[in-house]
Amino acid sequence: MKLKPAEIKVGRNDPCPCGSGRKYKKCCLDKEQTKPANLRDIYTSKYKIKFKESQDIDGIRTCGRLALATLDMVQENLQSGITTDAINTLVHDYTIKNGATPAPLHYRGFPKSVCVSVNEVICHGIPGERVLQEGDIVNVDVTPILKGYYADVNKTFIIGSPGEDAAKIVKVARKSLKAGMSMVQPGNTIGDIGWAIQRYAEGKGCSVVREFVGHGVGFDFHEAPQVPHFGRKGEGIVLFPGMVFTIEPMINLGVRHLKILEDKWTAVTKDGSLSAQFEQTILVTENGFESLTPYDL
Ligand code: MF3
Ligand code: CO
Ligand code: CO
Repeated sequence: MKLKPAEIKVGRNDPCPCGSGRKYKKCCLDKEQTKPANLRDIYTSKYKIKFKESQDIDGIRTCGRLALATLDMVQENLQSGITTDAINTLVHDYTIKNGATPAPLHYRGFPKSVCVSVNEVICHGIPGERVLQEGDIVNVDVTPILKGYYADVNKTFIIGSPGEDAAKIVKVARKSLKAGMSMVQPGNTIGDIGWAIQRYAEGKGCSVVREFVGHGVGFDFHEAPQVPHFGRKGEGIVLFPGMVFTIEPMINLGVRHLKILEDKWTAVTKDGSLSAQFEQTILVTENGFESLTPYDL
C-alpha cells in the first residue's frame, strides 16, 4: 500500500509521530512537521535514520544472500559433539572465503566472529568449548560486511530431536518474528511491530526480552532506529520506504528477565529457562516490506 498523506491519522491524545513520547496535541499537532515529507526530514536529522537508496539496497541484499548461505552451511555441519568454537571457525572461514568480513569480530571488544547462543543463553553467546548435545537449541547470529554493507540475520536450530519445551520455544520465537514482520508497511509505526510480537508471544505463555532490540542496519552494524519487541500500537516513529532495520525478538519460556555473565557479553535467562530468537533484515517498501535476508517462518 502506498503511503498517502491522509493515511497518517493521528488522534489528539495519541503518541506524537515525531517520536517524542508526548501526546500529539502537546507536541506537533499545530506544527507542519507531521506531514510525511517533513517527518522524513526529521527522522534523518533528529533521529539519524539513514534512508537507503536502490544501490544500497542491492548491496545489503547481496550481503544478506551471503549471510543466509553462511547459516545454511552451518546447519549442514551442526551435530551433537561439536563445540560452539567449531561453529565460529566455520563462519569465520566461510565469510573470508567469500570476500566479506565478520562484523562481530572485535566489535566493541567482542572476541569472536559469530554469536552462538545455546539453550538458556538469550543472545551474544561467545563461541568456546561448550559441546552441543542432543536436544539443545542453538542460535547462530551472523553479520557479514560485504562491499561496505551489513546484513544481520539469525536462526535457532535444534540438535537432533527436540524435547517439548525446546520445540515450543523455537516455534513461538519463529512465529513472533513473523508477527512483527507482518506489521511492516509505510504509515505503520515501530510500536506496531513490538505490539504484535508481544501480543503473540505472551499469548502463548512466553515472555519477551526487553533489554535488547532490533536496530537500523546497512551502512553500520547498529544504526537508528531502535526496534523494541514489545510496546503499544501507534507508538514511535512512522515507517517510510527506504528504512532498513532488523526485527529479532528474543523469547523466553519463563520470565523475561536476564543476567549478563562475567564475560560482559553472554545474556542468559534469570530463571535458567530456554530462550530462542529469529532475526531478519527488513526493508520498508512502497507496498509493505521486503526481507533482505529472507527465509520461511
Ligand atoms: N548480531 C547481533 C544483533 O543482532 C549483535 C551482536 S554484537 C556482537 O544485533 F558483538 F556480539 F557481535
Ligand atoms: Co541485529
Ligand atoms: Co544479529
